[in-house]
Amino acid sequence: MTTTDLIKQLFMSFNDKDNDTFIQIAREYIEHEKRKKHTVVAKDLEKALFSVSNVQNSSRRFKNSLPIPRDSEKGFPLLEIQHFDKSIDSLIVADEVKIQLEQVIREFKDADILATYNLQNKRKILLCGKPGTGKTFSAQIVSSVLNIPLVYVRFDAIISSYLGETATNLRKVFDYIESNTWIVLFDEFDVIGKNRDDSHEHGEIKRVVNNFLQMLDNFKGDSIILAATNHQNMLDPAIWRRFDDIVYYELPDENTRKKLFEIYLKTIKKDTDIDIAKATSMTDGFSPADIKMVTEEAMKTAIISSRNHLGQNDIIRAIEKFIRREKVRNNLMGNK
Ligand SMILES: Nc1ncnc2c1ncn2[C@@H]1O[C@H](COP(=O)(O)OP(=O)(O)O)[C@@H](O)[C@H]1O
Ligand SMILES: [Mg+2]
Repeated sequence: MTTTDLIKQLFMSFNDKDNDTFIQIAREYIEHEKRKKHTVVAKDLEKALFSVSNVQNSSRRFKNSLPIPRDSEKGFPLLEIQHFDKSIDSLIVADEVKIQLEQVIREFKDADILATYNLQNKRKILLCGKPGTGKTFSAQIVSSVLNIPLVYVRFDAIISSYLGETATNLRKVFDYIESNTWIVLFDEFDVIGKNRDDSHEHGEIKRVVNNFLQMLDNFKGDSIILAATNHQNMLDPAIWRRFDDIVYYELPDENTRKKLFEIYLKTIKKDTDIDIAKATSMTDGFSPADIKMVTEEAMKTAIISSRNHLGQNDIIRAIEKFIRREKVRNNLMGNK
């Protein structure tokens, strides 16, 4: 069979939603590449196929779980199942943070061994730190490394519905989580986790916070539950006690920012006079997400102006533009 034939069949099996044939033909194609001694390509494809078929296996494995819970008033889903394939190397954080995350992953893998010593792996982890420091990203990485889908819980969705429904919604989410083993992220969890003594808080919300904490306490599943917040100062001490570990994401220091620039600019050719140290020193207080945005802006400027190299000016301009933008935003928000 020619390459074209194989690819045609691949398309057809996709069209027929015939997964088994799809995988079989993909395998044949990989063999075909191997016979042509394209070992690197074949390895690469094998790896990609492996992750595809794993996703399929896991969706098979999870097929029998409950239907996605929905808000009964408005009918929208209360959570989302997400699949990721990200490497832990793409997360640039302080060593302690990486060690903590790796420990969570390792304990999960060795949960059976730990159990024989009557020890339990860490399951409830609080991720806190400024926006754009990698909290959501970390949950995606834990899910990738363990090859378990991420259950992404949108807290605003749960809360913004009729207040009376909120507790019911939470219960539905927990029932769903307990039906299987997942990596769960309660993202932007501070919507609910604000200090319970705050007099501005509605009484209903206070009840929901208590409710959430109780559900977290009583949670018996094997899943790893991650909760992320940007406002750790506003959290009640009672919440902190509920977690097995607290991971704190700092804004990146000079060295870390340098690494971020290098990683995010890796894909483009650069002028020889590029001075990353200069960019690094200009970006004190930037989050990793800010740096990502700046590098993307700089690369796009270089690309659309048909230069095939990134110049120092592209970077400096992108940084300056970002700083101006932040100033406007801060003014609009009353200098908060
Ligand atoms: N520590 C980091 N290392 C590498 N990239 C990061 C890091 N933090 C954020 N990013 C990039 O910025 C994006 C947004 O970050 P995110 O994880 O959503 O921040 P947070 O949830 O802390 O507000 C990520 O998807 C990733 O591409
Ligand atoms: Mg986030």
